[in-house]
Amino acid sequence: MFSYKYEIFTAVIENKINKRVLLKGERLPSIREIKKEYNLSVVSVQSGYESLVLKGLVKSIPKKGYFVDKSFEKQIPISKKQFSPVSRDIDFTSNLQLTSARNKSSEANSFNNAVPGDSMIPQKLILRTMQNIIREKGASLLRYYPPNGSEELRNLISDRMRRVGSFINPDEIIITDGALQALFIALRSVTNEGDVIAIESPCVFSVLEVAATLNLKIIEIPVQYENGFDINYFEKVCLEHTIKALVITPNFHNPTGKLMNDLDKKNLLNISEKFKIPIIENDIYGDLYFTEERPSCLKNFDEHNSVITFSSFSKSLAPGIRLGWLHAGKFYQEAEKIKFSLGRTVSPLYQELIIKILQNNSYYRHLRSFRKKLNQQAMYLWSALKKHFPENSYFHQPEGGYSIWCELPEEINMKEFYNYCERNKILFTPGITFSITDEYQHCFRAVFADYLTSESLILIEKAGVKARELLLK
Ligand SMILES: Cc1ncc(COP(=O)(O)O)c(C=O)c1O
Repeated sequence: MFSYKYEIFTAVIENKINKRVLLKGERLPSIREIKKEYNLSVVSVQSGYESLVLKGLVKSIPKKGYFVDKSFEKQIPISKKQFSPVSRDIDFTSNLQLTSARNKSSEANSFNNAVPGDSMIPQKLILRTMQNIIREKGASLLRYYPPNGSEELRNLISDRMRRVGSFINPDEIIITDGALQALFIALRSVTNEGDVIAIESPCVFSVLEVAATLNLKIIEIPVQYENGFDINYFEKVCLEHTIKALVITPNFHNPTGKLMNDLDKKNLLNISEKFKIPIIENDIYGDLYFTEERPSCLKNFDEHNSVITFSSFSKSLAPGIRLGWLHAGKFYQEAEKIKFSLGRTVSPLYQELIIKILQNNSYYRHLRSFRKKLNQQAMYLWSALKKHFPENSYFHQPEGGYSIWCELPEEINMKEFYNYCERNKILFTPGITFSITDEYQHCFRAVFADYLTSESLILIEKAGVKARELLLK
């Protein structure tokens, strides 16, 4: 329900701006047109437009009318990366130190934490539901649950995936302590030490960490700004190397936020089938779409049961809820053994929590408003970066998820830039942590998983001004 009559039209305009149907500079309908279309008074239409002006979405130009002020715009990427498909060991010590040192989650205004900020987490829903569960279930929560997880929970996850077109057998699901544990189990199930796997480039450092722990070699497959994961490049790599698995995030790749289209998903499956390469699909951001509907998983098109899909509730609910899942498919037996060796059970309290909120649909209600908030923060942050950083920078527009991938001109002194940012408590994740090559020295990831305050916008401006200044040196 709307609180003001005018929201009947402002909601439509806001939605079109957020979905990028209306772009910056576009003229909006006149007061007279809106009055007629929505049967509103002139005063009501004016108040509606004023509310959009206050939100910074629209500007009013005297005698001309109302125009879109803030929106994503089409940009041209600066560079197309030149990759060479070499398999490499992961020497990651310094990168790991870098990410841990910068990962001070308590810092306000940090743009480096890819988890929902405290105010984005549905705290009341989670805490109240947990209290009810403790009251209802009592001491039974203190026992072991089955090693592969509660049957009820596996059924609910399977139902939920069926609703988005993925048919996964609940008996082939394993409940895990988060997505990273699921990835560890999946990789260990299909590889041995020294094997070569393919990963995306840039690639989120936590995936690199898991691969390093398992002593795997990696080949990086570029995620291009315009076309996403480079399928042709991957096929070429498969012809020249023995690849034992591909780890990929088709829906809202971290850090670019890129969404793979359905045709590419099908083509990728054909390649994996041709070379008999299991695909490990990370769907942790799949529910966080800014597009019209939930994108399909690779699993939707998997006729040979060779895709291992995993996800968790860390990004869509709260990172402290240690609950993920893995659909291991034909690798189930191996995966179950590995899971057991990593811990006999996932916390019953978390399992019951997720059962409850999936059963009563509160998870889906939360997602609806959460996606809207995220999309807005994405637009505010993207616009601020575009406004304050040097013109020849590139900011990739996310289609979902949490992050904006930023590329600064290559000649900038990034060491000085990060030192300045750190002194001013502006935390970004450095590009070098997303690869074991030097390709992303001049890049960084900026996360919009919390509300942007006027203070945080000032910090973006400061960082942008510093970047401009460094380029003049
Ligand atoms: C792509 C991706 N996968 C997995 C994780 C970790 O998820 P979890 O907290 O569920 O282990 C993260 C975040 O750190 C991530 O960005």
